[in-house]
Amino acid sequence: MLKNTRILVTGGAGYIGSHTLRLLGEKGADILVVDNLSSGYREFITYGELKKVDIGNLSAMKETLSSFRPRIVIHFAAFIQAEESVRNPMKYYLNNLSKTIMLLQAMQEAGVELFIFSSSAAVYGLTDTVPIPEGAPFRPANPYGRSKAAVETVLQDLSNAGAIRFVSLRYFNASGASIDARLGERHRPETHLIPLLLKTAKGELPSFTIYGDDYPTPDGTCIRDYIHVLDLAEAHVLAAEYLLSGADSAVFNCGYGRGYSVREVVDVVKKVTGVDFPVNIGPRRPGDPPVLIADPARIKQTLGWKPRYDDLEFIVKTAWEWERKESSQ
Ligand SMILES: NC(=O)c1ccc[n+]([C@@H]2O[C@H](COP(=O)([O-])OP(=O)(O)OC[C@H]3O[C@@H](n4cnc5c(N)ncnc54)[C@H](O)[C@@H]3O)[C@@H](O)[C@H]2O)c1
Repeated sequence: MLKNTRILVTGGAGYIGSHTLRLLGEKGADILVVDNLSSGYREFITYGELKKVDIGNLSAMKETLSSFRPRIVIHFAAFIQAEESVRNPMKYYLNNLSKTIMLLQAMQEAGVELFIFSSSAAVYGLTDTVPIPEGAPFRPANPYGRSKAAVETVLQDLSNAGAIRFVSLRYFNASGASIDARLGERHRPETHLIPLLLKTAKGELPSFTIYGDDYPTPDGTCIRDYIHVLDLAEAHVLAAEYLLSGADSAVFNCGYGRGYSVREVVDVVKKVTGVDFPVNIGPRRPGDPPVLIADPARIKQTLGWKPRYDDLEFIVKTAWEWERKESSQ
């Protein structure tokens, strides 16, 4: 269904965008990547042309959309560090909210109606529901989560007015790397658990600190739902096919519906790498919910999504292969 379909991918030079555009490329989609390379890498683009433009540049985006004439825009471009968003909220509201609105305006003026949005479990934030269905209320714990929740509100209003049809995918913890280690996670600075643990195993970091072991969970550390980036990429393909079939706007959780504690992830990383590194306990980070686990029933039923890599050891193995390749370059 995606063969020769023109798709514009913002943030395609980043971690999740690059895995998705590779899958779209393998399906024969005709891809244009828009990325300002603020945290992306040219070498992550395996299909399609790169247009180095900021999504907030209205005239350039209008021109790009009018000349490429995509059927769908898949919008990954954003800043992603929740802690930084607390210190510098303007940076997040500007890039993640204002510039997304500019992008939607450019789409409207260019007559492009289909939109897939990278939302986040951060919109649920301090929820106490486990597992979390899409109908759970928004309780974002930081400006990053609030910027994502605000975009979802804008999308719903535009959709209600008949201006767009959209799918919002609320990712839980994206992790892992491509099986051939061609693509992987390269965030600078890195704030995600699995890459930080792997960098500690490699000796790049002297030790690893767990932020709090007094949470109301079986071992006291926070529990998260880790989803392999390739299963996440597949969710975008299904979402694109769904919108192209004429279906209504929808919101889907992307997670496996099971969680692992930080201590459990530490143990898996030590097992996969064969390295026993020092682990310290530090204070809690403000705004960290104890448990975030997706209820993925809706995406399975509506899109027929079938996760293939629901295995923490496999996730860590692919991430480890990628990390080892990164250090050999
Ligand atoms: N990584 C996760 O676990 C996770 C979880 C939930 C949601 N998300 C969301 O998924 C999306 C992708 O995350 P990622 O981990 O791949 O991040 P990333 O930083 O690797 O990729 C983001 C890409 O967007 C580009 N970009 C940022 N602002 C831009 C702008 N104004 N104009 C043009 N390009 C711009 C960057 O250069 C980069 O290539 C983000 O929207 C993020 O909020 C990620």
